[in-house]
Amino acid sequence: MKDIKRVGLLTGGGDCPGLNAVIRAVVKTLSLKHAIPVIGFEDGFEGLIENRSRPLSYDDASGILQLGGTILGTSNKANPFNHAIKQDGRIVKKDVSAQTLENINRHRLDALVCIGGDGTMTICRQLIEKGVAVVGVPKTIDNDLYGTDVTFGFDTAMSTAAMAIDYIHTTAQSHHRIMLVEIMGRYAGWLTLSAGIAGGADIILIPEIEYNLDAICAKVRERRDHGRNFSIIAISEGAKPKGGQMSVSRVVADSPDAIRLGGVAFKLGDEIEKCTGLETRATVLGHLQRGGSPSANDRLLATRFGVAAADAVAAGKINQMVALQGDSIGLVPIQEIGGRTRTVPVDHPLLEVAKAVGTSLGV
Ligand code: F6P
Repeated sequence: MKDIKRVGLLTGGGDCPGLNAVIRAVVKTLSLKHAIPVIGFEDGFEGLIENRSRPLSYDDASGILQLGGTILGTSNKANPFNHAIKQDGRIVKKDVSAQTLENINRHRLDALVCIGGDGTMTICRQLIEKGVAVVGVPKTIDNDLYGTDVTFGFDTAMSTAAMAIDYIHTTAQSHHRIMLVEIMGRYAGWLTLSAGIAGGADIILIPEIEYNLDAICAKVRERRDHGRNFSIIAISEGAKPKGGQMSVSRVVADSPDAIRLGGVAFKLGDEIEKCTGLETRATVLGHLQRGGSPSANDRLLATRFGVAAADAVAAGKINQMVALQGDSIGLVPIQEIGGRTRTVPVDHPLLEVAKAVGTSLGV
């Protein structure tokens, strides 16, 4: 077991509600229970590369439990092994891991606690290969991280998306319209499926099940024939038609994962309007889903994760990610995680639940 005397902490990748709750739990547990000082790096791996940091005391971690975002800042571009740098007006990618390791040594850190998603865990895996001791904490609103049943941030985003569907419901009813609500989640449909069921969407479209326009229009018509002259469609940003492509909204050249999805709700909305003759509107929820105060469930999960990560690092149980496994918090080797996306299995019970209450999955 490695002897741990000083720990570095960072939040990497896109933000989500609950990051501050984890920071609080890690810092307070390390300080109160283990007397281990913590150095916080700013803007994720960017701060580690550029040596931007500050000590995090018990007091720094007080009063942040309910705050959205991250007090440390984050970056979904910085990567010590493939870092984008501007040179002569051009973006070039460089391996700056040597300078990153130097910064870790400069602060005499025995281990890093990295709070992040798939991209962060992939970088952690590479750092481990360079001899850095790491403990990971799984975050993302997408809930697509391999190795854990749930990530924190998901529950809050699900409630936000479900509430948005509720709001759309009343205006859909008033105007007898077809309303599409585009929901984040990248290549996984967890957020759309869960929020869609919770919000009572009539049609739910996720990346794992390619949709069929005729089936969607038939469902809308069937509802109208039964006197329901409006329909709500919850659609993942990664949803695509059978044999078709996902809609890419932009390519972020200096990001390790350059593709940003978006816009499918507008495309499909136009097609539905043409095939049904009914007025259609689309709403893209976007970054609203990443904002706000964490739900009680996310605060609870984030605190459990943070305490477990602090206990693991203090005990020298390194190179593991804390994970929810059933009702318990366990540890999963980081080597097994990065680069694998946890999508919705096509036989997942939630799909049966949706179908049982008459929701169409667009096929
Ligand atoms: O992974 C979280 C997430 O919000 C995805 O759901 C979404 O596709 C992506 O990040 C958006 O990234 P950005 O903040 O770079 O636009």
